[in-house]
Amino acid sequence: MIVTTADLFRVAYGRFAIGAYNINNMEQALGLFRGHVQAQAPFIIQISKGARKSAGVKMLEAIIRACDEMFPEAIYAVHLDHGDEQTCYECIDSGFYSSVMIDASHEPFEQNVAITRRVVERAHARGISVEAELGMLGGVEEHVAVDEKHARLTDPDEAKLFVELTGCDSLAVAIGTSHGAYKFKGEQRLHFERIAEIQKRLPGFPLIMHGSSSVPREEVERINAAGGKLDPSARGVDEDEFARAIPLGVTKVNIDTDGRLVWTRVHREHFRDHPENFDFRKPGEAFVKAYADFIVHKSQKLKSAGTLSLVRAALLNPAYG
Ligand code: G3H
Ligand code: 13P
Ligand code: ZN
Repeated sequence: MIVTTADLFRVAYGRFAIGAYNINNMEQALGLFRGHVQAQAPFIIQISKGARKSAGVKMLEAIIRACDEMFPEAIYAVHLDHGDEQTCYECIDSGFYSSVMIDASHEPFEQNVAITRRVVERAHARGISVEAELGMLGGVEEHVAVDEKHARLTDPDEAKLFVELTGCDSLAVAIGTSHGAYKFKGEQRLHFERIAEIQKRLPGFPLIMHGSSSVPREEVERINAAGGKLDPSARGVDEDEFARAIPLGVTKVNIDTDGRLVWTRVHREHFRDHPENFDFRKPGEAFVKAYADFIVHKSQKLKSAGTLSLVRAALLNPAYG
């Protein structure tokens, strides 16, 4: 069942984090739904601009609708990941999305505010919520001085002002993570003190953590042992740190790279071990199972496992939260 992102956040805030996973194809969607039903966890399906272009908007929607029928127990929201203004409007007008992300974080503050404000107005008129981004999330090279690194993190006072000026419903904050498999170099880390400062200025307001893949060393080693060429220094977020971030207001945790690593490992090992095979269903089915197991594991780390009955009860009680 598709629900609003706002409803999921209302239940989750301070208690657990909602895993937000990008999907691109049928196998990924099957593993995502199967894993979350198995874990009894709510979730957010994320669709990026790249996925809309690659699989096609209609195909992605059809895959989700099919999964919805196949897994009637599942409770989830559908979200546009890293949208520009135009794509946000397309998704808002389509009526299929629970929420959109407008990512104008590369713009100067005033521009980011103006663009986000326009998207919020249009989204709220349709009952859709908006995630915005403030701060510079991308990878920070090792040679950049510590002061400058900190300057790229989200400024707590600016965050408060930004939320007041835009009316956005949640905020992606730069707290030391970056996208992809190569996140941390040198003494880089998650800046919990920064999250705490932001929460102090925005109590009860959902904060979003992008770039949250953990890039397990074992996964990278298995991929390389099966013919891959990933840099063995690849590093991600320690998934045990989610538990520290949840009471600080982190309500949605974005994970994509880790799922790509599962896909790559399963397929590389399959074709290494079965060089005679050319039936794509075999590695596909192995991936669905591995991805579902991966989702169960992540749900445990995010503390969303086992919360489905709580979510169901809260959906019937608007005062809950
Ligand atoms: O943060 C971006 C996500 O990992 C989606 O990646 O734009 O290649 O679909 P994508
Ligand atoms: P990862 O690259 O760490 O999986 O981050 C995904 C993300 O933030 C999607 O918006
Ligand atoms: Zn992201």
